[in-house]
Amino acid sequence: MYVCICHALNDKKIKAAFDQGATTPASVFRHHNCQVQCGKCVSTMRSMASEHRAVCAQQAAATVTATPVSAPCCTTAIPEAANAEAIPAYAVAAE
Ligand code: FES
Repeated sequence: MYVCICHALNDKKIKAAFDQGATTPASVFRHHNCQVQCGKCVSTMRSMASEHRAVCAQQAAATVTATPVSAPCCTTAIPEAANAEAIPAYAVAAE
């Protein structure tokens, strides 16, 4: 299912960004080397981020008693933009 029409980001691409450390819609855009345009997808991405965090919390709780087989998700943060001034004001709303 396409979530972001402007950048053809479907739920799989967005989930992949979350799995690699994205935590906000803005970091999903950075992961895919793009920026928010119309912003209609931001609320859906925020909901997906909340769901992803809940799943990660459940996985982290489950690994407390078990030996982790692989690294838990959400361990690699997407670096913030090197030049924050290059991000337009409307992109800040996606943080
Ligand atoms: S639908 Fe995502 S920026 Fe427009």
